[in-house]
Amino acid sequence: MEQHKMVIKQAELFVREQLGSDRSGHDWWHIDRVRKMALELAGLEGADPFVCELAALLHDVADEKLNESKEAGLEKVDSWLSMHLSGNPYEPVISHIRSIISTMSYNGGSNPPMTTLEGKVVQDADRLDAIGAIGIARAFAYGGSKGRSMHEPGKDFTGISYRSEENTTVHHFYEKLLKLKDLMNTEHARRLAQKRHQVMEQFLEQFYKEWEAVDGRNA
Ligand code: ADP
Ligand code: NI
Repeated sequence: MEQHKMVIKQAELFVREQLGSDRSGHDWWHIDRVRKMALELAGLEGADPFVCELAALLHDVADEKLNESKEAGLEKVDSWLSMHLSGNPYEPVISHIRSIISTMSYNGGSNPPMTTLEGKVVQDADRLDAIGAIGIARAFAYGGSKGRSMHEPGKDFTGISYRSEENTTVHHFYEKLLKLKDLMNTEHARRLAQKRHQVMEQFLEQFYKEWEAVDGRNA
C-alpha cells in the first residue's frame, strides 16, 4: 500500500535524526539490519510485514539509554505514531507497535515473553544483531564507548550485577550474549542463532588462546 511505503520512509528519516551519531550500538545501521531481518522473519513466519518493519525501525528511539526515562522515550514514539498513522483503522496498529517496543528489551532477562507473532519476530531480529560476528563487534564498540576494559583475567565471572560499570566486555558475553540462542522465539531465528552462537564460542576460544600466547601450540 502506498501509504505504508510513505510511513516507512518517514520513519527512516525520523530514526536517522533521533539516533544521529550514536556510537553505543544504536546507530542507524543496527536499525537497518534489524529491519531487514524482521522482514525476512516476517515472510517466513507469516507475520504482518508493516507492523514488523515499523516496530523494528522505531524500536530503539524509546531506549532508556537515549532518553531521560523509558516513559519519555515511549512518549516520543507514541506522538510520532499518532501523527503519522491517523484514523481509526490504525489505532490497533499503534497500540500493537507501542506494546512491542515497550516490552522487547532484554532487561537482564526479566521481561515477560512477547505475546504476538510480530513482537516475537522483531525481538528475534534485534537479538540476532547482538550475536555472531556483528554482535562481537557491537559489544566491543559499546564497551569502548563506556571506557570498559576488554578482559580482566579472573574478573570476568565474578557475578557483578547486570550492566555494572565495572564489568568487562568479555563478561557481557556470559551475562547476555551466550544466553540469547536459547531465547529465540521463532524457528528460523533459532537456526540462525545457532550458527552465530558458534562464531562467538570460536571467537572466545581463540581470544583466550591468544591472551595466553598458547595459540601456536599444536597449530
Ligand atoms: P539492543 O539494541 O539489542 O536492545 P542494548 O541496548 O542492550 O541492545 O545494547 C546495544 C549493544 O551493545 C548490543 O549489541 C549489546 O550486546 C551491547 N552491549 C550492551 N551492554 C553491554 C555491555 N555491558 N558490554 C558490552 N556490550 C554491551
Ligand atoms: Ni536494538
